[in-house]
Amino acid sequence: MKKAEDMQETMASEPLSEAVTIGPEAYVSEDYARAERDRLWRKVWLRVGRIEEIPEVGQFLSYEVLDDSIVVVRTAADKLKAFHNVCPHRGRRLVDTPKGTRNACGRRQQFVCGFHGWRFNLDGENTHIPHCEDWNGTLNADNTRLSEVNVDTWSGWVFINMDPDCEPLRDYLEPAASMLEPFELHRMRYRWRKWGIFDCNWKVALEAFNETYHVQTTHPEFNKYGEFRGWAKAQGRHSNIGYEAPKGMDENQKAKLRIASGTDPRVATAEMQVYTWEKANTNTTETLVDAARRLVDELPEGTPGPQVLQHWLKSAKERDAARGVHWAEVDPAHVGKSGTAWQIFPNFQIGHAVNNMLCYSARPYGYDPNKCIFEAAVYQHYPEGEEPVTEWEYSPATEEAWSYVLGQDFSNMAAVQLGMQSAGFRGTQPNPYMERSTVNLHKNLAEYMGRGAPVKKG
Ligand code: FES
Ligand SMILES: [Fe+2]
Repeated sequence: MKKAEDMQETMASEPLSEAVTIGPEAYVSEDYARAERDRLWRKVWLRVGRIEEIPEVGQFLSYEVLDDSIVVVRTAADKLKAFHNVCPHRGRRLVDTPKGTRNACGRRQQFVCGFHGWRFNLDGENTHIPHCEDWNGTLNADNTRLSEVNVDTWSGWVFINMDPDCEPLRDYLEPAASMLEPFELHRMRYRWRKWGIFDCNWKVALEAFNETYHVQTTHPEFNKYGEFRGWAKAQGRHSNIGYEAPKGMDENQKAKLRIASGTDPRVATAEMQVYTWEKANTNTTETLVDAARRLVDELPEGTPGPQVLQHWLKSAKERDAARGVHWAEVDPAHVGKSGTAWQIFPNFQIGHAVNNMLCYSARPYGYDPNKCIFEAAVYQHYPEGEEPVTEWEYSPATEEAWSYVLGQDFSNMAAVQLGMQSAGFRGTQPNPYMERSTVNLHKNLAEYMGRGAPVKKG
């Protein structure tokens, strides 16, 4: 544990280390929510799906945010294109999203508009217009093609940006991109993915996961495994969070695959793994849980925590390697620095590790600031050919539909949204050390929105 004065010094020298207040407008104002469409959502890179969802030429998926719908289609083995999902004839959505589903997907040789039959090839060029001659030669390739949208990929995800003048994706993602690449996230595949319409602003949903300050109160069951004090750092427009290493633990132990403290670290680690597997279904894998269960048989009583951790990870890694699952090799110092999760501006969180990850995203659901579309997915490595087939599963914000631990997080969301609308609410006061990702989100949001910057306290 750092001494109080050391900690003060670190905190004061870090960007955004001062205490601030953030007004409720960004969370509760319909006017603000409407302004987000042009100033934010149409300007930023948005993660819309995973490359492996559209492996074949002609496969597509759609993504909706407020009034915009984008279609991303594979046009060649190594090429994707994205278009606004609107027919240039009279504006019909070209591809319909079936009611109750997160997005449209499928495979086409061409897109045919269902209203009057205009046709488009996968590159978005118009290929057929019934009675074309009626326009007296005024229709041309430009005014009949689909409107293109920027699309690019990074670490296995597909991103789009509706701003024609946007910066390249890779530049936009720095320094998160460089920090996360050693984890080889592109090799992971979905274990499960769920989405729902939640009763809170999209920022409230994301801010339930971008800090560790809530763990001791919202998830009290974890307290018996040790105190997990976490830090948060501003990283340009993005941010990251992580856990401080308990005294005497090396860099490796800063990893998310952390050891539980307790009288017998073998037992405590197994208990915490089983609890996490059964009650959260996140942040671990079956291999890790099984290896933790074997600790009491494989190690003598009294083995110190750091050795338990080392053995546990080594044994899980070997079991995985034997079945063709290779963890990313990441320098322990880098693991420590990268933390446990990155908040990619504005609405995507990547909870990375060397063998699994947990990602969250949230975006508006219409212009009601009190609602959002929330999604979460867990990914891990699989032996080739054994990846499960998954789909976005609609799941209301309940413990039953997700898991006990996520249910605990969800229980705060609608309650926060209600509280923020109170006449007595004076704005949030985020913890300057542990909740800095929220401060950074609003600092950056304010740059796009032209309002709502965090205000220094005192
Ligand atoms: S609106 Fe698409 S063909 Fe008429
Ligand atoms: Fe939580």
